[in-house]
Amino acid sequence: MIQLARRMSNVQASAIREILKVTERPDVLSFAGGLPAPEAFPAEALARAHADVLATEAAAALQYGPTEGHGPLRAWVAERMTRRGLVATPEQVLVTAGSQQGIDLVAKTLIDPGDTVLVEAPSYLAALQCFSTYEAVLQAVETDEEGMRLDALERAVRTRRPKLIYLVPTFQNPRGTTLPLERRARIAELAAEFEVTILEDDPYGELRYRGEDVPPIAGIEPRANVVHLGSFSKTLSPGLRLGYAVASERIVRALTIAKQATDLHTGSLSQRAVARLLATFDYEAHLRRLRSMYGERLDAMLASIERSFPEGTVWTRPEGGLFVWVRLPSGVDALDLLADAMREKVAFVPGAPFYPADPCRETLRLNFSNRPPDLIAEGIARLGACVDRRLRSARRAARRSA
Ligand SMILES: Cc1ncc(COP(=O)(O)O)c(C=O)c1O
Repeated sequence: MIQLARRMSNVQASAIREILKVTERPDVLSFAGGLPAPEAFPAEALARAHADVLATEAAAALQYGPTEGHGPLRAWVAERMTRRGLVATPEQVLVTAGSQQGIDLVAKTLIDPGDTVLVEAPSYLAALQCFSTYEAVLQAVETDEEGMRLDALERAVRTRRPKLIYLVPTFQNPRGTTLPLERRARIAELAAEFEVTILEDDPYGELRYRGEDVPPIAGIEPRANVVHLGSFSKTLSPGLRLGYAVASERIVRALTIAKQATDLHTGSLSQRAVARLLATFDYEAHLRRLRSMYGERLDAMLASIERSFPEGTVWTRPEGGLFVWVRLPSGVDALDLLADAMREKVAFVPGAPFYPADPCRETLRLNFSNRPPDLIAEGIARLGACVDRRLRSARRAARRSA
């Protein structure tokens, strides 16, 4: 029998990836994956950009490239982040294969076995999986409707002496919550005081449908060591596998060495095509279209939940991103509900796998970006009926045992 490395025994297969295998069948109305709307992919503009690059710079686009990334793309990211409140130079940018690779490189660079990583509860599943691969000890920090609670975080920082604080501060995956500015500032202060690195994972920051922008944590407190991760997955296309890390030059150098051993560099053709696209097409207009489409879908989902789910259901009301988080009435287990929902050809992700420990089994995550409003209404109505049935049977069972 093949002996896997000891560290693999800590790692579970991603429950979401496993569920997605079943739920992405074409006849299923799936709210499970964090998938962008395919009709919003700028396919024609990307086709033109690829063709232009191959016509004019094929030798470089098809060749090995620098590990740090394509210069003009790094410069574009530095400029955009500076406008969003994180002042950065191109040398502070590392182009990655999606922000997922950024999480992996930070973990690889900073975490020794047994180091503590503070995470939100619930948190982004593939990050938890990644930290486990590097044999980190995951410590959940309590969250409320605005994200990580400061009192809980401060206690954990003082008592656990963590190496890393991992946060999705804007439109969090899975809950959709956003940390307000004052909390960001205090978290950055704490990180500076206790010399803990913050990993600020921000794939959704550009997808705001209402309310005011909040600046990245990385731009708030210059004394704090913050690695900021961004992505083109949700704004252009996840298939491109393009993201970036923005950090101090020293950290970028360390991440670059880690990346050399991982994949040498991110694909030259994708990087150059996206740099060409960003220089030639109206990215702002594209984002406006995306925000308007997803904002409508979010409204449709919130209204459908309100209409279709029984009393006792609680849910988040995000101002952006891709997800709504639902807490079912007491006694309704989301995993049991998924079995019923799949029979009705509706899918979602149960919330339990998102918790590093002590899962709340009555929770679930719904994605709203991937289906138009009419299908959202239909799917949520079917799901609401399933919740109703489960709730009635849970109440009957409780009466019988009383
Ligand atoms: C919070 C968070 N971080 C990172 C990622 C990875 O995104 P990508 O690697 O496509 O940039 C995702 C994807 O859904 C996510 O939700």
